[in-house]
Amino acid sequence: MKHFSLLFLSSLLTYQLVTAFPSHASLAGLSARELEEIIPSLERRVIKPPPGPLTNTSAILVNDHLHPWKPAGKDDIRGPCPGLNTLASHGWLPRNGIASPSQIITAVQEGFNMGNDLALIVTYVAHLLDGNLVTDLLSIGGKTPKTGPNPPAPAIVGGLDTHGVFEGDTSMTRSDAFFGDNHSFNETLFDQFVDFSNKFGGGFYNLTVAQELRFQRIQQSIATNPQFSFTFPRYFTAFAESVFPLTFFTDGRHESPLQLDMTVARGFFQDSRMPADFFRSNVSWTLEKIGPGVGAVFSAHPIPPGGNVNNTVNTYTPDPNAANFSNLCKLYTDFVNVTVRGLYSDAKGVLLEALNKNLDFLFDAIKGQGSCVQVPPFV
Ligand code: HEM
Ligand SMILES: *[C@@H]1O[C@H](CO)[C@@H](O)[C@H](O)[C@H]1NC(C)=O
Ligand SMILES: *[C@@H]1O[C@H](CO)[C@@H](O)[C@H](O)[C@H]1NC(C)=O
Ligand SMILES: *[C@@H]1O[C@H](CO)[C@@H](O)[C@H](O)[C@H]1NC(C)=O
Ligand SMILES: *[C@@H]1O[C@H](CO)[C@@H](O)[C@H](O)[C@H]1NC(C)=O
Ligand SMILES: *[C@@H]1O[C@H](CO)[C@@H](O)[C@H](O)[C@H]1NC(C)=O
Ligand SMILES: *[C@@H]1O[C@H](CO)[C@@H](O)[C@H](O)[C@H]1NC(C)=O
Ligand SMILES: *[C@@H]1O[C@H](CO)[C@@H](O)[C@H](O)[C@H]1NC(C)=O
Ligand SMILES: *[C@@H]1O[C@H](CO)[C@@H](O)[C@H](O)[C@H]1NC(C)=O
Repeated sequence: MKHFSLLFLSSLLTYQLVTAFPSHASLAGLSARELEEIIPSLERRVIKPPPGPLTNTSAILVNDHLHPWKPAGKDDIRGPCPGLNTLASHGWLPRNGIASPSQIITAVQEGFNMGNDLALIVTYVAHLLDGNLVTDLLSIGGKTPKTGPNPPAPAIVGGLDTHGVFEGDTSMTRSDAFFGDNHSFNETLFDQFVDFSNKFGGGFYNLTVAQELRFQRIQQSIATNPQFSFTFPRYFTAFAESVFPLTFFTDGRHESPLQLDMTVARGFFQDSRMPADFFRSNVSWTLEKIGPGVGAVFSAHPIPPGGNVNNTVNTYTPDPNAANFSNLCKLYTDFVNVTVRGLYSDAKGVLLEALNKNLDFLFDAIKGQGSCVQVPPFV
C-alpha cells in the first residue's frame, strides 16, 4: 500500500512537471537551475540520424486519399510557415503540428520534393533554435498550451513563432512581430502579393514578382518597423522563401517557367491546403538547384544585412560583422559559435549530448557545400 501511494505520488509529481513544461517547448535560453528541474521530467528520445534523399524524385500525386486536407482542430498548432502548415493539414506531418526533425525532413521531401541538404539545414537550424533537443520534438507554431497546476514562466514558448530566431520580419504574407501578430495569414499583405503578381507577372507569381515583392517588403519594414532586423538567419531565409512558392507550390506537371496561380497561392498561404489533384514538384530542390533562383531575387535589389537602429524607422544601417551571401561559412560558424552557444551556455549531460548530435547532423548537410570547417563540439 505504501509502495503504491509513493508510486502514485511520484507519478503525480512527474505529471505536474510534464504538463507544466510541454514536451515540445524549447530549452534554449533557460538557466542551469531551470534545466536541472525540467530535464528529468522530459521523456528523452533516442536521436537517430536524419533520413537520406528520396530514391524516386518524380512528380507524384501528394493530395491523395491517404493525405486528405482537414481543417486544424482547436488544439492543433499552426505557425508562420505555409509549407509546414500545409503538410500538417494534409497529414504528411502529425496533424497536431508537433514533429521530430526526422519527420519534418521526410515530410518536406515526400510532400514537396525539397532536396535533402536544404531540408536538413532548414530543419536543424529551426530545431536548434526553437525545438526541444531532449524530447526531439519541434512545434511548427508557438501555441504552447499552458495548462497544469504550475504554469511555466513566459520565457517558455518555443516553436517556430518565436520571433527573432528563425521567424523574422518582412514576410510576404505575415506581418512583422512589431505589429503584434507575427504568424497569421494577413489579408492586406496577401492583397499586395496579388497586386504585384498582376503588375509584374501577368496575374501569376513568378520570379520577377518574387524579386519586386521581396524588395517592396524590405522597404516597407524599413519605413514602418522601428525594430526591423535583417541579419542571420532571417536575412537568408527571406530571400529563399521568396522562391519557395515557385518551386514548391506549383504543380509538378507544369510547363516551365515556374509561375503560381493566385487561387492556388491563397489555398496554401491562407488555408494550408493543396489544390485537388496536386502533384509535387518533379525536381528535387537541393541547394544547388534552388541557389540560382535565390541569387536572382537577391541580385535584383541587393541589400547588405543590417537593420533599423535607435528604435527609429528609416534608419537602415548595415551590420559589417553579419554573414552575407559572399561569406556563407561565416553564416554556419556564427550560428554555432554565437547563436547556439548563447542559447545553450548552460547545457550539460543529456542536453549537451543532444545538442552536439544535432550540430553534427547540421554540419553533415553543410560540408557537402565546400570548404566550411566544423566547429568543435561543445563541452
Ligand atoms: C524544412 C523545414 C522548414 C522549416 C523549419 C520552415 C520554417 C519556416 C519559418 C519559421 C518561416 C517563417 C519565416 C518568416 O516569415 O518569418 C517560414 C516561411 C515560409 N516557408 Fe517554411 N519552413 C520549412 C519548409 C518549407 C517548405 C517545404 C515550404 C514550401 C513547401 C516552405 C514555404 C515557406 C514560405 C513560402 C514561407 C514564407 C511565408 C511568407 O513570407 O509569407 N517552407 N518557413
Ligand atoms: C518513380 O515514380 C513514378 C511515379 O509514381 C513512376 O512512374 C516511376 O516508374 C518511378 N521510377 C522508378 C525508377 O521507380
Ligand atoms: C496586416 O498587415 C498590415 C501591414 O503590415 C498591418 O497594417 C495590419 O495591421 C495587419 N493586419 C492584421 C489583422 O494583423
Ligand atoms: C509572435 O506571435 C505570438 C502569437 O501571437 C506571440 O505570443 C509572440 O509574443 C509574438 N512575438 C513577438 C515578439 O511579438
Ligand atoms: C513574369 O511574368 C511577366 C508577365 O508575363 C513576364 O514579363 C516576365 O518575364 C516573367 N518573369 C519570368 C522570370 O519569367
Ligand atoms: C520537370 O518537368 C518540366 C516540365 O514538364 C520539364 O521541363 C523538366 O525537364 C522536368 N524535370 C525533371 C528533373 O524531370
Ligand atoms: C543612432 O543614434 C546615435 C546616437 O544618438 C547616432 O550617433 C546615430 O547617428 C543614430 N543613427 C541613425 C542611423 O540615425
Ligand atoms: C560580406 O562580408 C564580408 C565580411 O565577412 C565583407 O568583407 C564583404 O565586403 C561583405 N560583402 C558584401 C557584398 O557586403
Ligand atoms: C568557435 O569557437 C571555438 C570555441 O570557442 C573556437 O575554438 C573556434 O575557433 C571558433 N571557431 C570560429 C571559426 O570562430
